[in-house]
Amino acid sequence: MQLNEIKNSELKNWLQSWIDLCAPDDVVICDGTKEQNDGLCNLMVKSGTFIKLSEPENSYLCRSAVSDVARVEERTYICSVKKEDAGPSNHWRDPVEMKAEFNQLFRGCMKGRTLYVIPFSMGPIESPIAKYGIELTDSPYVVVNMCIMTRVGLSVLKKIDNGAEFVKCVHSVGTPLADGEADVPWPCAEMDKKYITHFPETREIISFGSGYGGNALLGKKCFALRIASVQARDEGWMAEHMLILKLTSPEGVVKYIAAAFPSACGKTNLAMMEPTIPGWKVETIGDDIAWMKFGKDGRLYAINPEAGFFGVAPGTSMKSNPNCMRTIAKGNSIFTNVAITMDGGVWWEDHDDDPEELVDWIRRPWKKGDKRKAAHPNARFTTPAAQCPVIAPEWEDPAGVPISAFLFGGRRRTVVPLVNEALDWEHGVFLGATMASEMTAAAAGGQGQLRFDPFAMLPFCGYHMGDYFKHWLKIGEKAGDKAPKIFYVNWFRRDESGKWLWPGYGENSRVLKWVFERCAGEGKSKATAIGNLPTEQAIDLEGIKVDPKDMQELLKVDCQGWKEMLPQIKAHFAKFGDRLPEELNKQLAAMEKRLG
Ligand code: OXD
Ligand code: MN
Repeated sequence: MQLNEIKNSELKNWLQSWIDLCAPDDVVICDGTKEQNDGLCNLMVKSGTFIKLSEPENSYLCRSAVSDVARVEERTYICSVKKEDAGPSNHWRDPVEMKAEFNQLFRGCMKGRTLYVIPFSMGPIESPIAKYGIELTDSPYVVVNMCIMTRVGLSVLKKIDNGAEFVKCVHSVGTPLADGEADVPWPCAEMDKKYITHFPETREIISFGSGYGGNALLGKKCFALRIASVQARDEGWMAEHMLILKLTSPEGVVKYIAAAFPSACGKTNLAMMEPTIPGWKVETIGDDIAWMKFGKDGRLYAINPEAGFFGVAPGTSMKSNPNCMRTIAKGNSIFTNVAITMDGGVWWEDHDDDPEELVDWIRRPWKKGDKRKAAHPNARFTTPAAQCPVIAPEWEDPAGVPISAFLFGGRRRTVVPLVNEALDWEHGVFLGATMASEMTAAAAGGQGQLRFDPFAMLPFCGYHMGDYFKHWLKIGEKAGDKAPKIFYVNWFRRDESGKWLWPGYGENSRVLKWVFERCAGEGKSKATAIGNLPTEQAIDLEGIKVDPKDMQELLKVDCQGWKEMLPQIKAHFAKFGDRLPEELNKQLAAMEKRLG
């Protein structure tokens, strides 16, 4: 399809206005084909952006600029018309002023470059839960990553041309090339020129100056969470930072579970886990984002809006996530900021191989035993979800999968038990709103201080978080007795000496089994001040040795610890002012009373 074949005037005008402003040398429409993708990869090999790896097959290494290695939350803005609609958890810019600034920044910013037009679908193209977008970008790296992470194709462009709604996404690395000027492997702008901006009322995303991950692959955090959370609020559905897994019992009964954990708390590992209890099976639907709508039967149905995994490489190994390693081993992947072995393979910290020598992510020689890290801690793999050996056959079902349970969690060394079932939906919303991880000694604020990350959405909610809590309460009202059950889990408990109390990894299936049983109206529990906890025998420990004392510790109600947390929860709630739903204050008061 050529530009001049586009008939839809809204689409045509939008495209033309950006082409005129950015002044690229060329415009290419992306069709998602292997030929086009291979062509772009070859182009990036020639320009020095990509290195073709010896293995896995059809895979590439890319090394970013050292200053452009992660999402930049301090340069991320919600440009709602009213400042108060962005809420206390977001940076805000006036949309008119922001656009005026972009009018300067984007002027001629693609000179010497090609503007790629990427039509993409978040979710299976025919799904009633899916949504479409078009990303304009001058980065071929973004194109090939988007082709893994989303469904790119001309069929989407045709639907948009025929009037389908779409989110307008514009991205530039922000470094035009003068005539004859040579490019660098990873062009990007200075920090104070980087902007990741969202216009919730007009469903637009404009990103300038960074080529990395969530700053540049605009389908992911920008669209599927920040803009989609606003669409979900307006249209009565949910866009959440959640993995989706399929759990099958030995009897063949299936339940789908969605789980929200803050970034880097093991969502990808849980989504692909190998259960240790005989006969139980976990399969993957998604590892990062869930979109959920009510089905005709009144239950919530979820799709994974993404088509690939953009996972953190360091820490991923046959021990922590064998199915992810098998996914990557099939090739067709992009590795960003990992180390390269002397024979052209990839390596990162905790990788199963133990090489003597490497070249690190900033191209320096590295020897075994060197103190400095060979891969950047936020090094990533981009890999197709379809290659995952435990991807559920129905992962692309346009209807989605019915969710039976939500899990929330974070990293907590103390106080929070292994698993806790919410007393009801409102209590579950309270648990989600007070989700927190402990800060390490290294972080400002000091040890023991909690960093609250409600519903793991703190950096990703595109509107006022108080209103987002209200939205959760409304969803519960609508779902009634069809609402998923809510649980809070904590795999990260330690004793005073720092020893882990729970073995984690595949053993977490023992907790999933109890969750499954509770959803089936079985599984023994006792009501406590903080929620319904498993009774002593309720967690299946057959085949592993967990000290009974440790188990008691994992499942006890630490009244003193919870009481000490109350002032921190109150201060956290106070940030949302009068937009905090009264129900959450009531939940807090009720817990305080139950704690005695
Ligand atoms: C991610 C994140 O990249 O949560 O998924 O930061
Ligand atoms: Mn994430």
